[in-house]
Amino acid sequence: MSNNIFLALDVDSQQRAEELIHQTSNWVGGYKVGPRLLFSAGTEWVKSISNKHRVFLDLKFYDIPNTMLSSIRSSFELGVEFVTIHALAGPEALKQIKELEDELSKKRAFKVLAVTILTSYSEDTLPAVLKTSGVEKSVEALAGEVFKSGLRGIVCSGVEVKNLKTVYPDLYCVTPGVRLSNSSNSDQKRVVTPRQALDSGSDMLVVGRPIYEADDAEAAARQIFESVYEK
Ligand code: C5P
Repeated sequence: MSNNIFLALDVDSQQRAEELIHQTSNWVGGYKVGPRLLFSAGTEWVKSISNKHRVFLDLKFYDIPNTMLSSIRSSFELGVEFVTIHALAGPEALKQIKELEDELSKKRAFKVLAVTILTSYSEDTLPAVLKTSGVEKSVEALAGEVFKSGLRGIVCSGVEVKNLKTVYPDLYCVTPGVRLSNSSNSDQKRVVTPRQALDSGSDMLVVGRPIYEADDAEAAARQIFESVYEK
């Protein structure tokens, strides 16, 4: 069985990240590294953990196509399996990124994940330009553009997965904003439990604060694992 829970290592030091990896490696299937850790631990460290674990580099590229392509290529060179972009980058960029994904994934497992609408947005906090369509329609439209480009990986909330999978069954859906009913939502708005996310069809769960802010990170990771894989 593959464990599709990824721990977001949103911490400030390599030492703290390694402590968390040590505590949780029996219960999570991989680790997500964002800017906060990358800037303190560095790219060589990312390379070294990519040799031992599945790594998801979450830098959410959003730029002109040429810059996005070179950023994705550089990320691939670090050995990571997943990288993120914003679907809002548009069809021209998405199409070129799909060609690059095809080229790189011939060498080893590699997937580009397009973020639709961040899980921290609610209808009230959406940027004005997206307000007329709203969260659900914007997510659907962006997922449609990703699908049309040939890319299949998207990041969306667990609330949207079921609907998206009905329209596009072969999308690979990554769900952040996952919370057990006893943990705080923090800034996340469109949250679901790990069980709800998997039942709706999520292919990967990304969990950060409920694990790394817990008094006992191992116990928290284990509880999340058991909530989805042992019932
Ligand atoms: O701490 P928490 O579980 O909310 O962490 C969620 C992680 O997923 C964070 O690293 C955040 O940057 C990331 N993420 C997200 N929403 C997206 C894409 C990524 O929360 N749409």
